[in-house]
Amino acid sequence: MSIPQVAPQCEQQAKPLQPHASLKIVIVGHVDHGKSSLIGRLFHDTGSLPEGKLEAIHAMSERRGMPFEWAFLMDALQAERDQGITIDVSHIHFRTPVREYVLIDAPGHREFLKNMVTGAAQADAAVLVVDAREGMQEQTKRHSYLLHLLGIRQVIVTINKMDLVSLAQDRFQKLSKDVRHYLSELGLDLQHTQIIPVSARDGDNIVTRSIRMDWYEGPTLAESLDGVQQPVSVLEMPLRFPVQDVYKFDERRIVAGRIETGQIRLGDTLMFSPSNKTARVASIEAWNARIKPVAARAGQSIGITLDEQLFIERGEVASLVANPPTLSNVFRGRLFWLGHAPLKVGKRYKMKLCTAEYTVEVQAIERIIDVNDLGMRESQEVERNAVAEVVLRARGLIALDPFDYNMSTGRFVLVEDYDIVGGGLISMEGYADQRPTGIKSSNIFMVEHRVPEPDRWRMNGHRGGILWMTGLSGAGKSTLAFSLEHYLFQRGYQVSVLDGDNVRHGLCSDLGFSPEDRVENIRRVGHAAVLFARAGFLVITAFISPYRADRDRVRMLAPGLFHEIFIEADLETCEQRDPKGLYAKARRGEIDEFTGISAPYEPPKLAELQVDTKAHSIEECLAKLTDYVSRTFVVTK
Ligand code: ADX
Repeated sequence: MSIPQVAPQCEQQAKPLQPHASLKIVIVGHVDHGKSSLIGRLFHDTGSLPEGKLEAIHAMSERRGMPFEWAFLMDALQAERDQGITIDVSHIHFRTPVREYVLIDAPGHREFLKNMVTGAAQADAAVLVVDAREGMQEQTKRHSYLLHLLGIRQVIVTINKMDLVSLAQDRFQKLSKDVRHYLSELGLDLQHTQIIPVSARDGDNIVTRSIRMDWYEGPTLAESLDGVQQPVSVLEMPLRFPVQDVYKFDERRIVAGRIETGQIRLGDTLMFSPSNKTARVASIEAWNARIKPVAARAGQSIGITLDEQLFIERGEVASLVANPPTLSNVFRGRLFWLGHAPLKVGKRYKMKLCTAEYTVEVQAIERIIDVNDLGMRESQEVERNAVAEVVLRARGLIALDPFDYNMSTGRFVLVEDYDIVGGGLISMEGYADQRPTGIKSSNIFMVEHRVPEPDRWRMNGHRGGILWMTGLSGAGKSTLAFSLEHYLFQRGYQVSVLDGDNVRHGLCSDLGFSPEDRVENIRRVGHAAVLFARAGFLVITAFISPYRADRDRVRMLAPGLFHEIFIEADLETCEQRDPKGLYAKARRGEIDEFTGISAPYEPPKLAELQVDTKAHSIEECLAKLTDYVSRTFVVTK
């Protein structure tokens, strides 16, 4: 059997990931909610349509005696693409003055899901179209769920056909509330969610600001798209170098493979997972290179030699020691099933993840999504062409990443009798990293809780989670953390603050401010925060936590629970405030390794929330935080 689009094995990917590719967006919505019109309008108003196209469609409509509709335009483009006139059948390009976009066209749910899950297509952001008259329909909810399933974090919602509800502000507000409620229940990131009232037919708030809806002060669709954060480039992501083969030349062993993400430099200490062996890079051997390189980057196929002769095999994943992949023998898979025979609980399959192969057993089928109507069902079997959320378990530890953390090492395929029978995305929701680093004891075993987390959430009326505030000393972390705690406590939240200065009086009293001590500080409080969050608490942390890798590690401990909040104020502002007089001391040379002066601070790249304490008052910042909390954590009892 050959399935050309399924090639998620890293080594088989034809095109290397583009470090600075255009932003890929997908537009989803109920058929009648005006998706085609919106696309047509977006193309037209951004000046991206082929010359004469619009006129031709106008003329055609006139000839047929039909009023012009934007959807005709899309039909015409579709027809051309079906005939293969345009080269690329599923990607259409348009651009704004800010950047270029690729619209990933989804001919139907099945193709769309298959392409997304198997890696044939990848969207960075989504636009969800909702009809202003009908609001959140079942179909809209299913689309939202789909986005959540596929790990798309940045969603823009357009409330379309505002002209048909008399451009009414109250109608828009009501729908916005519904949408927010639903998306937050799904756990979608509302920080990056804009809700925009538009009329695709008339062009209001698509590219041009609507004069008729002057009550709306937010961005247009095009502006909102321009505001979507570019995904972190594959070069800046943590190193993942799956070993493809180990060749022996003379006395040397060359470890060969393709760097999926990140970079390798001469002298780096690499950790190989799942074996946890480490060694330094002694040389980098690139094919056909006259001079031996000192570094190599994502997308390159290379060989390396190590300063120690490790016994490692194909399938191990090399990373830097500070940021290794997750190790687990159990994970959730969001799976597209292609097998002729159904997937069943208890059945075993061969799983390929990058260059590694493991045997996994289907432990549970949690839900099945019907790709025709996106409805959900429960069953003990997954039929061909269905999408399912499953739990897979292996005998030993697997080196993997959640898909929303790393698209290469977060994707797998299942194989049965040499045929690919399914492709899937990895989620670690509800499961912990089992990496044994630092565990000194042996003969210890994890025991599972009998109280499921959602039960705790329902009882508390809110989810548990970590609001991880990071920023320079004096940026306002503690002030905001304690104000937020007070505010939330008054409203019945189970909430508590872990604060840098306080924790350093107890749990971390043995630690100073060297890089190693800071790493250990964040490791300890990270684990403490996760324990609180799993117990149902909303934990607010106030630590400088200057290293991105440390914060990422806490995120990895509990990806669904961790919310990074950048408390932003530049060094100059913090130094002027100098609430504890420490900047002055540091300037006088009385404090070593003071963050911002003589020690680094790495700001977050993709924080869930950013609070600028220089531009806004404490009250305004607090309002932003409380708004985020109520949108993100509240659950109905
Ligand atoms: S972290 O870097 O390990 O995250 P943490 O948030 O716990 O730091 O502690 C920072 C607090 O310690 C600061 O608010 C400041 O009051 C105090 N402090 C004392 N020495 C230093 C230093 N060298 N660098 C930064 N903060 C310091």
